[in-house]
Amino acid sequence: VAEDIDLVAEINRLKKEKNAVILAHYYVDGSIQDIADYIGDSLGLSQQAAATPADMIVFCGVHFMGETAKVLSPEKKVVIPDLNAGCSLADSAPADKFAAFKAQYPDHIVLSYINCSAEIKALSDIIVTSSNALKIVESLPKDQKIIFAPDANLGRFVSKKTGRDMVLWDGACIVHIDISLEKLTKLRLQYPEAKFIAHPECQEHILNQADFVGSTTALLKYVVDSPEQTFIVGTEAGILHKMKQAVPHKKIIPAPASQNNTCACSECPYMKMNTLEKVYNAMLYEQPEIIVPEDIRVKAYESVARMLELSK
Ligand code: 13P
Ligand code: SF4
Repeated sequence: VAEDIDLVAEINRLKKEKNAVILAHYYVDGSIQDIADYIGDSLGLSQQAAATPADMIVFCGVHFMGETAKVLSPEKKVVIPDLNAGCSLADSAPADKFAAFKAQYPDHIVLSYINCSAEIKALSDIIVTSSNALKIVESLPKDQKIIFAPDANLGRFVSKKTGRDMVLWDGACIVHIDISLEKLTKLRLQYPEAKFIAHPECQEHILNQADFVGSTTALLKYVVDSPEQTFIVGTEAGILHKMKQAVPHKKIIPAPASQNNTCACSECPYMKMNTLEKVYNAMLYEQPEIIVPEDIRVKAYESVARMLELSK
């Protein structure tokens, strides 16, 4: 890209020229959130991908999100800024190993967190996100046996809340499990008035500390609607961009990560692979394009469509 190019203006021009829609997750860099047509959590993004009249979906998030968009809207071109933007949760469940695991429990249905590959979705009965997992599990008959994959932390949280015993696949999000209880405890002593809010991908000992647990959209709503003024936020720090825009007068502190990364907070290395320049290139060259083999897509569509139906 030439140095003097105005990326934002060029992206907006390409958006019109190609009838493209830019969908972004809250964890991508603020500069990308600011040019997006829609920013949301995984459920909201899927609903948008299913309903958009655009010809091209530019998905600024990670690979499984682009794949889900393609599963829902196969007639549209779906591009993502960086094909290497994966997800530790999706990577934790390779399809062959998961199929063997599932075969051990023939009388169970499979509920999979949306953070998984299209192959895993094809092996699942219903997809869930952090915003509808409780509701969907509660909608199932009490004696229904359930495998929950791939996030064991979300699975344990749902089990505890619903009182349902589920067989858990042992996957985790590298970002959320890295929040440090020791550093969080010190931070809470420093800000005793702060509410601590967390994403259900966090470990149980962190969730036990939380005043509120929810999806990224729910965490944002909590900070905006709550009469409180100070919050410690236990999820990927990208969400702070929208929180600070929405309530600039409130004090919003990211929960501390145990590892010393650039911001001492929780950052997803995959989400941060997205840059404005890569968004521009993806729109200009219409690649990297997401392709899902039709046999897998058709099966994955069923489990994702079931989720959308149950989320109405
Ligand atoms: P939600 O935005 O759906 O809560 O998902 C969080 C996440 O980790 C996405 O990768
Ligand atoms: Fe995956 Fe965690 Fe990154 Fe979300 S934050 S994309 S779950 S690694």
